[in-house]
Amino acid sequence: MRQHVNPLSRNFNEIERIPSLIEMFGDSKLSLHLDIGCASGEFLFDLASVNSNWNYLGIEIRERLVQTAKLKVRERKIKNLYFVFGNANNILNDIQSKFIIKNVKSISFNFPDPWFKKRHYKRRVIQPEFINFLSNSLQKGSLIFVKTDVKDLFEYMDCTISSNLHFKTIDKKDFNYAESFNPDKVKTNREKYVIVNQLDIFEKIYIKS
Ligand SMILES: C[S@@+](CC[C@H](N)C(=O)[O-])C[C@H]1O[C@@H](n2cnc3c(N)ncnc32)[C@H](O)[C@@H]1O
Repeated sequence: MRQHVNPLSRNFNEIERIPSLIEMFGDSKLSLHLDIGCASGEFLFDLASVNSNWNYLGIEIRERLVQTAKLKVRERKIKNLYFVFGNANNILNDIQSKFIIKNVKSISFNFPDPWFKKRHYKRRVIQPEFINFLSNSLQKGSLIFVKTDVKDLFEYMDCTISSNLHFKTIDKKDFNYAESFNPDKVKTNREKYVIVNQLDIFEKIYIKS
C-alpha cells in the first residue's frame, strides 16, 4: 500500500522551473489537456500515443514517479507529453504557470486522494480557493472532468465546483467525447482497478461559462 504524500508539507512550497509550452511540446499550438495527480502517467502515455492532435501535461506530487515518467518520455521521444513534479495547487497558483491555465482546454481530476478524516480535508486537491482561482483564470468553454469511487469525496468535489457560479454541469449523454482529450475513453489505472472490483464510479463534467 502506498504512502500518501501530505501536499501541505513545506517540502512542496518551492516548485521546479516551469518551462514554456514551446519547450514542453513539439507543437505548442495543439489543444492542451492537464491531468492533476497523474501518478506514473500511464493514462497520459496511452492518450498521447493515440491522440497526436493533443498535448498532455501531467502534474504529480510523488517525485520518483515524475522522474521515471520524464525519462520514458525522453527515451521514447514523445513530443506531446510532459510531466511536472509538485503540489498541483502550488504549481498552478504560481505566476510562472499562468500560461498553462490560459492555454488549457480541459483538466482531469481522476480518483484524487480522498483524505477521509475531516481534519485532513485541507489536503484534498480540490479546494474552494483553487476552484475560484480556476474560474478566474480558465478560458470560457474550458472543461473540468472529475472521477472518483468515493461517494463522500464526489459530493464534496461537486459541491465545491458547483458553488462557483462560473462552472455548469454538462450532462454526460450530451457530451461529445470524440472532440475531447479522451475520445476513446481510455481508463486510468485506478479506474481499471475499480471496474475489475465492481465498485461504483462517480463522475461529472463541468464547463466554464
Ligand atoms: C489515487 S491516485 C490516482 C492516480 C491516477 N489519477 C489514477 O486515476 O489512476 C491520486 C494521485 O494524486 C497524487 N496527488 C495527490 N495530491 C496531489 C497534489 N496536491 N498535487 C499533485 N498530485 C497529487 C497522488 O500522489 C496520487 O498519485
